[in-house]
Amino acid sequence: MPEPRRRRSVSQTHLLNLLSAQLADHFPDAADVIDVGGGTGGVATAMATLGHHLTVIDPSPDALASLERRTAEAGLVGHVRGVQGDANDLLDIIGPAGADVVICHRVLEVVDSPAEALTAMASVLRSGGVLSLLASQRHSVVLSQALNGHIALARRTFADRNRFDHDQIIALVQQAGFEIVAAHGIGAVSDHVPEALVESEPGAYAELYALEDEISQDQTFRALAPVLHVFARAGQKSPATA
Ligand SMILES: C[S@@+](CC[C@H](N)C(=O)[O-])C[C@H]1O[C@@H](n2cnc3c(N)ncnc32)[C@H](O)[C@@H]1O
Repeated sequence: MPEPRRRRSVSQTHLLNLLSAQLADHFPDAADVIDVGGGTGGVATAMATLGHHLTVIDPSPDALASLERRTAEAGLVGHVRGVQGDANDLLDIIGPAGADVVICHRVLEVVDSPAEALTAMASVLRSGGVLSLLASQRHSVVLSQALNGHIALARRTFADRNRFDHDQIIALVQQAGFEIVAAHGIGAVSDHVPEALVESEPGAYAELYALEDEISQDQTFRALAPVLHVFARAGQKSPATA
């Protein structure tokens, strides 16, 4: 694994390595992957590089234009397609049982109804299909906004009903019919370590990466992390929809 170069990239690298390994475990061959709210395609292109077939659904034309450029630059034309749409349109766009994997990273916070969005994600998955959900955790976001001097924003975030804590995120996923396979906190330490403290020391980023990996499933660190990654399996489908 190349050594991550910047503090932010420790958590991003950790997330991508985690998801790559989870998908390889469940789908050793290419999987049909939907990235809901996939934006400019950072995650989608990384997964397409591994051989998976990606569809990015996003309402933003600008994001989709960037996705197209990124896909061409990465030599992935034909492996990643962008579709303009909303999480609510998922079933119309993909159809029932049309995908092996749904990725939904940092989108639950912006949809009108997170519960309905998760139910739609479950409905487009085939039997054995999986969800990769990344959601920001309210307490950590409030703390970080307040520590950066954005106190009014921190108060609004604390009151925001679309910001969830660890147990609420897990409950939402289960209520949509998923079975939790694994949950990891992402960036619990690395997103807080001042870059100046580690940038001059050889090997420090690799140490930080190793620490992130070790603590990501610790119950306390997981709940304190800025974002929670949940990997979950769709419930059994009836023969008609599988
Ligand atoms: C914070 S960005 C996350 C992008 C990407 N998933 C990532 O992790 O880098 C949120 C994305 O959700 C998209 N979005 C906003 N409202 C949405 C909706 N109702 N359904 C699906 N995507 C939405 C935005 O256009 C944006 O690309």
